[in-house]
Amino acid sequence: MANRYWTLDDIPWADFDPSLVDPEIVPIVKAAALVEYNARDYSTYLCNVFHDDPEFQAVAKEWSVEEVQHGAALGKWAEMVDPTFDLEAAFAEFVASFRIKLEANESVRGSRSGELVARCMVETGTSSYYSALRDVVREPVLRDISLRIAQDEIRHYKLFSRHLDRYLVRERLSRFERLKVALGRIVESEDEELAQAYRCANGLPPGDLQEANRQYMGRAYALYQREHVENAIALVLKACGFDPHGRVHRMASRVAWMIMSRRGGAIREKLHAPGRKAA
Ligand SMILES: [Fe+2]
Ligand SMILES: [Fe+2]
Repeated sequence: MANRYWTLDDIPWADFDPSLVDPEIVPIVKAAALVEYNARDYSTYLCNVFHDDPEFQAVAKEWSVEEVQHGAALGKWAEMVDPTFDLEAAFAEFVASFRIKLEANESVRGSRSGELVARCMVETGTSSYYSALRDVVREPVLRDISLRIAQDEIRHYKLFSRHLDRYLVRERLSRFERLKVALGRIVESEDEELAQAYRCANGLPPGDLQEANRQYMGRAYALYQREHVENAIALVLKACGFDPHGRVHRMASRVAWMIMSRRGGAIREKLHAPGRKAA
């Protein structure tokens, strides 16, 4: 199965300009490549959870092809930047150290609606992340890749959100129950999966997950500008059935922005310095 929207052949690889590569961005691109490349496992899990829903299973399979392609594109770019990086080798180490539970026949989120809320949170995170990357990156090939991926991720959000609406009719998960799942999934994004991916992609020693997490989160949060955070909070609220642009949105955006801009720290200042605009 191939991605219907674009392929690796659509990327202008010949425009690659090593002089415009930001060294601060390379480690998180490598880590993102591994997480994206692992989507096939998630589609197996989703097909098990939605075992009697062939319509959703078809969607999940197509979705995973697109995610794996994100990993392939980011990995190829990282290999061009750093010839010592090997996507397949780093990926093999990642799956050996981090495995998701595939054989579940019901969602770890307690219900199918909960599972779909969690999927919407992941797509919220990725769509805001690649939009922030697209807006800060100067190297033209990575900018092209992040633009394509950001478009895919927001489409994925809408896709899971549509299926969430379908399941909510049946399961009636309340707004607060949805919010609980959503917050749980957001907190999890600071856990093992991303830290392991960062560690394996960047040759950090096994066991040093705390350091990997610190480096990953600092570098990732440094990409963001306030509008990306505001858009992400609106998507979170929408998936939980709350007004995406009301008072809660303003308050939550302010708090999230405060935390993220602080954790991005010095790297943030460097990436967003005046006069450092894309060519
Ligand atoms: Fe993706
Ligand atoms: Fe996605």
